[in-house]
Amino acid sequence: MRLAVIPGDGIGPEVIAEALKVLGEVVPTAEITRYDLGASRWHATGELLPESVLGELREHDAILLGAVGDPSVPSGILERGLLLRLRFELDHHVNLRPARLYPGVKSPIVDPGEIDMIVVREGTEGLYAGNGGLLRKDTPHEIATEVSVNTSFGVERVVRDAFGRASARPRKHLTLVHKTNVLTHAGSLWSRVVEEVSLEHPEVTVAYQHVDATTIHMVTDPTRFDVIVTDNLFGDILTDLAAAVTGGIGLAASGNLDITKRNPSMFEPVHGSAPDIAGQGIADPTAAVLSVALLLDHLGQNESARRIEASVAFDLATRDHASPGGTFAIGDRLAALVSSNVRVS
Ligand code: NAD
Ligand code: IPM
Ligand code: MN
Repeated sequence: MRLAVIPGDGIGPEVIAEALKVLGEVVPTAEITRYDLGASRWHATGELLPESVLGELREHDAILLGAVGDPSVPSGILERGLLLRLRFELDHHVNLRPARLYPGVKSPIVDPGEIDMIVVREGTEGLYAGNGGLLRKDTPHEIATEVSVNTSFGVERVVRDAFGRASARPRKHLTLVHKTNVLTHAGSLWSRVVEEVSLEHPEVTVAYQHVDATTIHMVTDPTRFDVIVTDNLFGDILTDLAAAVTGGIGLAASGNLDITKRNPSMFEPVHGSAPDIAGQGIADPTAAVLSVALLLDHLGQNESARRIEASVAFDLATRDHASPGGTFAIGDRLAALVSSNVRVS
């Protein structure tokens, strides 16, 4: 297994160190190549993602990324020039973001029930496409546009993936989240594609919800969701919320998948570089560890992925959530649990 690792900025390197500790217990033979992409390389050389590095990344089976973004770099430089460029160049069209309330984890919702959903977020289009610009800059009549790009091809492939995932889950329920009452052009395309693909999946029940109402239900009735399919920006926002209701952003994992497997997929916590806590050794590395489990699943190493998930589940069920220990202590615990092959009943 050839893995490229981009620790990145802020808490990225801190959580990645623990994720690699855990990976070492299940796949000790993994060949790891580190890439120093991120704020410090940009400051030192002006480089974000050189072509030669992109070429090397393509030669790996998967990429593990910590987080990018730093207060010393203007907003958007690293996010667009590095993270989004990777997602776009490597055609990461399915951004898979599970959100599950593990036993023992406290949700801010008083009576949350058993939350277990996956958000299938489109990863290469929408408002992230970079289709826009500034006109008449620095005049009183400045105009800023960001145009959402939704292609039939792009919507269909992510919707198909979401139906496939819904079909494989016990509840077989899919919710399209959009804003069809206002974004009538993109909304119409998404709705039609969902309707068409649903004909091939009579076993999947389908619901539609506007994104604003979805934020209500995510808090008041989160168990209604099984699989959510949505566009790039709605998916970004909803997955931070889904993380918050399932115990916090420190637990939320993600995979940026090229489901055709033509390019390596990339796995990363949903959270960012958290400059407010970077360097303190208090970031929760669990999201990064669970991202390794998603990576292993993607590479067909399902048994190893289950071992990691079981260890996380055990740790979360037995953790003192008021003082869970620091980044290093949590990583050590998880590595020990994986090594002892702990199972949860
Ligand atoms: P953030 O996710 O970094 O932090 C939001 C809040 O969550 C902060 O209070 C932070 O301390 C907390 N938090 C995050 N991860 C945590 C963890 N593992 N354990 C405990 N607490 C954790 O979001 P932000 O503050 O909006 O963004 C900071 C920077 O990260 C920005 O530059 C942003 O662009 C970037 N960012 C990068 C990614 C990525 O690389 N995938 C994702 C989101 C944000
Ligand atoms: C995420 C992040 C990124 C996104 C940013 C940093 C580009 O918020 O991975 O959720 O918006 O997708
Ligand atoms: Mn986000």
